[in-house]
Amino acid sequence: MQKRVYLSPPDLSGNELKYVQEALASNWVAPVGPQLDALVFQLKKATGAEYVLPVNSGTSAIHLALLALNVAQGDIVFCPTFTFAATVFPILYQKATPIFIDCEADTWNMDPVLLEQAIIDSIQQHKKPKAIILAHIYGFAAKIDAILAVAGKYNLSVIEDAAESLGTSYHAKHTGTFSEIGILSFNGNKLVTGGNGGAVLTNDQMLYEHMLRLSNQAKEDKPYYEHKEIGYNYRMCNVNAAIALAQTEQLDQKIAKKKKIRDWYALHLKGFATVKYVVEGIDNAWLTCILLPDQVKPEAVQQKLEEHQIESRRLWNPMNAQPVFEKEIFYSNGIADSIYRTGLCLPSGTQLNEEDIIHIADIIKRSL
Ligand SMILES: Cc1ncc(COP(=O)(O)O)c(C=O)c1O
Repeated sequence: MQKRVYLSPPDLSGNELKYVQEALASNWVAPVGPQLDALVFQLKKATGAEYVLPVNSGTSAIHLALLALNVAQGDIVFCPTFTFAATVFPILYQKATPIFIDCEADTWNMDPVLLEQAIIDSIQQHKKPKAIILAHIYGFAAKIDAILAVAGKYNLSVIEDAAESLGTSYHAKHTGTFSEIGILSFNGNKLVTGGNGGAVLTNDQMLYEHMLRLSNQAKEDKPYYEHKEIGYNYRMCNVNAAIALAQTEQLDQKIAKKKKIRDWYALHLKGFATVKYVVEGIDNAWLTCILLPDQVKPEAVQQKLEEHQIESRRLWNPMNAQPVFEKEIFYSNGIADSIYRTGLCLPSGTQLNEEDIIHIADIIKRSL
């Protein structure tokens, strides 16, 4: 039987088994342990963040960030429309209101010009702008300088969703470390996975300590149980940390391979589809994304690949188009909708070789 090619499967070719065995053998099957400590150390080294809090998912990390920044009912949070829903859902956990901002064509991330327009309108309408969540989607660094300048002008907090951008830097600084709080995800399809998991990044000790406490059921540091606020069970298990630790050790090799894969697609799809690259910032090439010619339907190409047991995915279906968000405000320039209509993510697992890419590219070319 033909083996299925997945979009971005885990590649466990490092010390994963060794570290999991060590975690089990030493009985550290808990949300504390040496593998967790080592993961924190590695992530600090990789990102330059002063404080790293491992948690059980990227989604919980975003929720903790909103809690720590006091985002609450009635607050407006500006967020990208072109992202995975997990960027946005925690805003609703807090009963705050998202306002969706379209992306710009260079990086496919939040457009700073539309963002400012949305903030000005909200202020004029006497709403309560509180925070901005930006994402570095597909590992492409957003126009962070411009977004931070707008945020500063209107005194808004910024959360960076760097779930997809571990290893991506912008002007030599790691994504997720530009603003008060950044987050990472280690879910199964990410460059570095722990099976499940995420992390919060911050340089602010008070924010870190608050989020640490919230993630641990808001237990006060007392010899008895005391809770002054509502807590969450968001800590990461040491066994997941063991996997993520081994993966983080291989971050540079993984990125180098992902870049090779993207270059192979660009070479073998030349003249048929446009492989997305960004000009500014050093990205991690997490998923190769292509834009197809206008007259081609991505679902037709997806179907052809599927017939050969090859998984592909449409680009993010914008949040403003989701039934769950149909009542929310959206500032549009048409870009998210246009790339959604013509784009496709191709298999980008680090186990793939050039022959695999030639095979996938041939199927795509035949389907056009
Ligand atoms: C952009 C983005 N934000 C947030 C998340 C949420 O991360 P997790 O799946 O670890 O909760 C993901 C990944 O799933 C993501 O791709």
